[in-house]
Amino acid sequence: MQHRSLMVGLILLALILGACVSGMKQSSNSAAKKKKGPNDPVVIGFSMDTLKEERWQRDKDLIEKRAKEMGVQAFVQVANGDDNLQIKQAENLLTQGVDVLIVAPHNGEIAASIVEAAHRQGVPVISYDRLIRNSDVDLYVSHQVVKIGEMQAQYLLDHVNKKPANFVVVGGSPTDNNALLLHQGQMNVLKPAVDRGDIKIVTDQYAKEWQASAALNIVENALTQSNNQVDAVVASNDGTARGAVQALEGQNLAGKVLVSGQDADLASLILIVQGKQTMTIYKPIQPLAYIAVDSAIKLARGEKVDAKDTIDNGAKKVPAVLLEPIAVDKNNIISTVVKDGYQTLEKICANIPADKCPKQ
Ligand code: GAL
Repeated sequence: MQHRSLMVGLILLALILGACVSGMKQSSNSAAKKKKGPNDPVVIGFSMDTLKEERWQRDKDLIEKRAKEMGVQAFVQVANGDDNLQIKQAENLLTQGVDVLIVAPHNGEIAASIVEAAHRQGVPVISYDRLIRNSDVDLYVSHQVVKIGEMQAQYLLDHVNKKPANFVVVGGSPTDNNALLLHQGQMNVLKPAVDRGDIKIVTDQYAKEWQASAALNIVENALTQSNNQVDAVVASNDGTARGAVQALEGQNLAGKVLVSGQDADLASLILIVQGKQTMTIYKPIQPLAYIAVDSAIKLARGEKVDAKDTIDNGAKKVPAVLLEPIAVDKNNIISTVVKDGYQTLEKICANIPADKCPKQ
């Protein structure tokens, strides 16, 4: 008798626990609550860190353009590198009733609170270009960032003609997960080269907030420390590359030292044609922005999103769409960025003698 009531008690406990677990599951999946019908209007909130680099203006314009094409509204907020402001702006977007949030975070850890706030209201979140870490983010849309780091380092390694060659590594902002992934990629290539005795790393530092001035300082110090014996600078984006070039110009070394970059900024493509920056990584922004908007609409409607990749953000394997980056140097500027209409040859060559300019 006692045995039977113990059994009943255990079964009841199991039922209660089961209900709790499924309740938890439901609440962690609260993004599934408020769904739009196929003909309901959808409102997208786009929370951006910055418009400082040229590329982010493109992201903003293209997100707005695609939203218009798809007949949905997009509200955009830019936080200018201020985490508290980005959180406040995201909260404002939620108060305005957005159905889905696209977030390009300033700080990948701190932005987790934006995901939590959105999910409390049943609003799904897409992490855009930069990963939001340790959160239940619904989708990540970006490029293959580790591969970008590998391409930057490999290009310089393939083109440096000294052994051992002295390398300087200039990372991006350490609060941006992309900077960490880039560094991982760069080291995938550089570490074995160090072990082989092919290169030496003079210095390896992150440039605060991706600032060109921070990169300038890092490279100036490396030049002083090595008696100007620097052969290559693995700069993580074009802004930091231009800081590096400025430091090299100070020692009449611009054009003699290899410098990588990323973003295909106009100012850097000009430096590439002038021979002062060696290469950049071109990330077509249009597909990125369009995929983000199209996926946002699907998430708002509770439809399945096509995401072939995943990325671990510390809390879960986030479904991800990771686009291919393209290495650009002066030999393929025309067949890449110019062909795509990303930059025009007129602008790149505006102040460069015609015979020095790539031919179409
Ligand atoms: C990165 C981004 C780069 C660059 C940088 C500075 O996260 O992937 O394209 O723009 O931020 O904003």
